[in-house]
Amino acid sequence: MHLKAIEWKANKVRMIDQTKLPEKIEFIETDDYKVVEEAIKNLRIRGAPAIGIAGAFGVVLGLNKFQGNDKNELNTYIKKEVIQSLRSTRPTAKNLFWALSKMEETINNYLDLPVEEIKKKVFEEALRILSEDEEISRKIGQNGAEILKDPSTILTHCNTGFLVSGGIGTALAIVYTAIEQGKKIKVFADETRPLLQGSRLTVWELMNAGVDVTLICDNMAATVMKQGIIDYAVVGADRIARNGDTANKIGTYNVAILCEKHHIPFFVAAPYSTFDFDMAGGEEIKIEERAPDEIICGFGKNTAPHNTKVYNPAFDVTPNELISGFITEVGVFRPPFGKWEKLKKY
Ligand code: MRU
Repeated sequence: MHLKAIEWKANKVRMIDQTKLPEKIEFIETDDYKVVEEAIKNLRIRGAPAIGIAGAFGVVLGLNKFQGNDKNELNTYIKKEVIQSLRSTRPTAKNLFWALSKMEETINNYLDLPVEEIKKKVFEEALRILSEDEEISRKIGQNGAEILKDPSTILTHCNTGFLVSGGIGTALAIVYTAIEQGKKIKVFADETRPLLQGSRLTVWELMNAGVDVTLICDNMAATVMKQGIIDYAVVGADRIARNGDTANKIGTYNVAILCEKHHIPFFVAAPYSTFDFDMAGGEEIKIEERAPDEIICGFGKNTAPHNTKVYNPAFDVTPNELISGFITEVGVFRPPFGKWEKLKKY
């Protein structure tokens, strides 16, 4: 994949502005952490692993702006200003909090060093998070590809490919890898209302990669399943609780219920950084609510009367009993869920 969703170039973060896709490929290049903060908030960069990486580079940029040698000042500024504001961008994806904790840990570990050395260590940590994600997505791809029979057709929801990752993604990494292995894989992509990550991003990236992809509206999933077209549903995740309850893009729960009804395996693909072992179950996961305009005036066109009362949760929680397995970088976890030792140790 020649395009990178996010990278470090000439002392700046460079990200594809995903709000501009599929019409044009536009990049954001910045050395200002406030620009990264805005980009995460407004989904210019999005998807759980990618916002973790963006958060990590946001800390690097924030720290680069720090002048002077006062460690107390540095500590307060980076934690209370930079990390705090990056943390408050989006509440649901665990990966963002995971990456910011890693950055905080790095600062704590090296606080005795001169300021310039701390900056260097923090930068190295962000680069490590980025390159590790590339490797992780490759392993998720391999572990998932083994499961898929040849040929098969996969239904997916939202976007989970190279746009969400330092590598080839999570759920779509499985598609890319299986195809690379010579399997004949077709994809049905849910449009993913209201922000259309399925049609704008998944279809765009799969078509560019030469994958056979068919777009459907979210409310057509039941029909294609009933018609026997779909062999598996494979989705990503934003946060997975200890019992396996999984937060992902709104509408994922619908897909899982439909899979149960039609006896179709429903898999979740996610890296270690998406798991939240501190949360016992899905009811503890904070679900982001977004602006009404995304539903009643999506992409600048009024589709409901002004002042319509709107409820716009960006994610839902799929109960663990609807999940056939979690595809991770260390292997596939099947029910009953809760034994995560292999993943924790890693
Ligand atoms: O609101 P978004 O576009 O950031 O939501 C993204 C998703 O829900 C993805 O499915 C999830 O982050 C998994 S991507 C590996």
